[in-house]
Amino acid sequence: MDPNYDAAFRNFEYRWPERFPGPRWTRTEDGRAFIRNMPETAEELQADSRWPAFFPSPICLVTVRHGDEVALEKVVGASIVNRFPYVLALSFCRVPLSERHHPRHRFMELLEKSGAANVQFLSPGPLLGRAMGAVAEIPEAQTRERLKASGLGIRPGESHGAPVFNDAYMVYEGHLARPVKGFEGERVYDRPWEDVGSHRVYFLEINCIQLQEEIAEGRRHIHWRGLPVWSPRLPFQPAEPPSVPGEGFQSAYQKGYAPRYVFPSAATAGFEQDARKHGMAIKHLAPLPEDQVEVDNDRARWPCFFPSSLAMITTWGDDGRPNVIPCGSTTVLSRSPMIIAACISYARINVRYAPRASIDLLRKRGAFGCAVPFIHERVVAAIKYAGNVSFRDDPDKVARSGLAVEPGGEAPGLPALPIQYDCRIVGEVKLGTHAMFLGEVRRIRVRTDVQAENPLKWCPWGIVE
Ligand SMILES: Cc1cc2nc3c(=O)[nH]c(=O)nc-3n(C[C@H](O)[C@H](O)[C@H](O)COP(=O)(O)O)c2cc1C
Repeated sequence: MDPNYDAAFRNFEYRWPERFPGPRWTRTEDGRAFIRNMPETAEELQADSRWPAFFPSPICLVTVRHGDEVALEKVVGASIVNRFPYVLALSFCRVPLSERHHPRHRFMELLEKSGAANVQFLSPGPLLGRAMGAVAEIPEAQTRERLKASGLGIRPGESHGAPVFNDAYMVYEGHLARPVKGFEGERVYDRPWEDVGSHRVYFLEINCIQLQEEIAEGRRHIHWRGLPVWSPRLPFQPAEPPSVPGEGFQSAYQKGYAPRYVFPSAATAGFEQDARKHGMAIKHLAPLPEDQVEVDNDRARWPCFFPSSLAMITTWGDDGRPNVIPCGSTTVLSRSPMIIAACISYARINVRYAPRASIDLLRKRGAFGCAVPFIHERVVAAIKYAGNVSFRDDPDKVARSGLAVEPGGEAPGLPALPIQYDCRIVGEVKLGTHAMFLGEVRRIRVRTDVQAENPLKWCPWGIVE
């Protein structure tokens, strides 16, 4: 698809903002940003429950079956939250907030009764349009009618009976997570869901992945743009003193990062299929051994592509130095209060999954900043440096990544990035290898050069070509 990588996304882009700023935003003294305090009142929320600012999230379709009842729902921000077991979090509204945010009672009931779901992806086009149209037009209480109304062909999944779209290019099949021991011997998943603000978050343990054969064989590719596109109008704010990311420190493990991602490619792991059926390569994921043991770096990689974005999670160190961890497992879980989850590795599995220095800082400080990066050479260089070097080894990690830091505040601000959510930690859920830190958004900062005529552009879909 290169060199016109971005051109292919143009028809499917979402742009933020449409209008900005609204009444609750105030300009900072230096004129560089607008600030909004959170949470909002119930009345404000009822009048407009759209997210108050942009956060890049993928969208997927989810199906369930209980008895002869099948149901379809769309989920924004499904996110891999834990590596062993391999768990996907899906969040559904459970209390009425507005016309837009209404409870998904029927779907949740069927999911809880059947204990299984299929998470699937269609490339943007008429078929995805029909599935999304059925979700939009048919009320939640009649969710069982949606699959029929979409007119799309379905078949049962490989590991359970929930339907799979014949036209899905990728399917993640899973069951609600069962109680197991985490890497520290602790009990996890005593319950396969967690109520977080206005939403219920389900932990779906993935047991089977289906990938279109042509993709598994490298004859077609999934193109995923993992960061929004944006053109800053203010000059890039570098670290002081200026530094070149990567100079001064090397980590033992070098995780690469490309926001314009192609799967499969020479840089990605191959898909290790163990069966073929219906034009799909199929991989069954082995259940977790009783005692989790050391897993080598390659086995710890994700077994297949899953669309995710990235946030820069910031905290203050003990000596007042800032830290930042690029965190791919970051997602918005609840709308009221607005709660952002960042999933951080606490397990000592191997070099790749070692406990992050950020874990202790988050617990001590009880707050984090969640900044939204975008496609920019210096931002990507900062992600690569900060995503491979620990604060434990380089306490000047943020400066060395090339990013300026705004002093003051409960969490360090990153003024080079267009949007930042400042969050107070209201919970921590251990998931086996990763801990999910729940941050209630208290303040949002949006740079003044983010405008309707200069929006962030984001595509929530992978494009298959
Ligand atoms: C693209 C990318 C995504 C990452 N996502 C996560 C994640 O979701 N959770 C996590 O614990 N580490 C993640 N990491 C790894 C951490 O960023 C990395 O280990 C970092 O050096 C930890 O810093 P700390 O020890 O100072 O906290 C990611 C790294 C990169 C490059």
